Amino acid sequence: MTATNGRVAVCPGSYDPITNGHLDIIERASRVFDLLVIGVVNEPIRKQRTLFSAEERLQFVLQATEKLGNVETEVFDTLLVDFARKRGATALVKGLRAISDFEYEFEMNQLNRKLAPDIETVYLMASPQYSFLRSSGVKEIATFGAAISDLVPPVVAEALQDRLGRS
Ligand code: PNS
Repeated sequence: MTATNGRVAVCPGSYDPITNGHLDIIERASRVFDLLVIGVVNEPIRKQRTLFSAEERLQFVLQATEKLGNVETEVFDTLLVDFARKRGATALVKGLRAISDFEYEFEMNQLNRKLAPDIETVYLMASPQYSFLRSSGVKEIATFGAAISDLVPPVVAEALQDRLGRS
């Protein structure tokens, strides 16, 4: 699908790994746009090395979103706005959990706006049950062997236990 036959948005992230909080934003955004493209960044520049490879992160997202008819997923390795242009997107979608997210997102917004004033960023507030949820917290919990099954999709819970669980 391109911008000529529907509203396309890109929902970018590291997805290391995808959580139920990400899925909540993705599902809600998929109801607002005709096509939602999940952009999995190959190597996040501002963060430490990812736990999962880009291919693993992509596969988790694909499995977690397979029931959503208007969602596609792709790994990207460019500026986000260039990826959005390539996919014909007119919007970026981000989730906001708490005020602590605001400063980081505000900075990214200004940079992306400078690079591409024609691409608007739209923010969805996290649902209350996910306002505390971030991938790094889930990884920490998994390291100590505590339950994560209600925080991430089943395929991710299994992979985290395999990769991080202390037996
Ligand atoms: O899930 P994250 O780690 O908060 O996602 C960060 C992401 C992928 C949105 C950001 O790293 C990004 O946009 N990367 C692509 C490079 C880019 O366009 N940088 C300029 C905007 S700050």
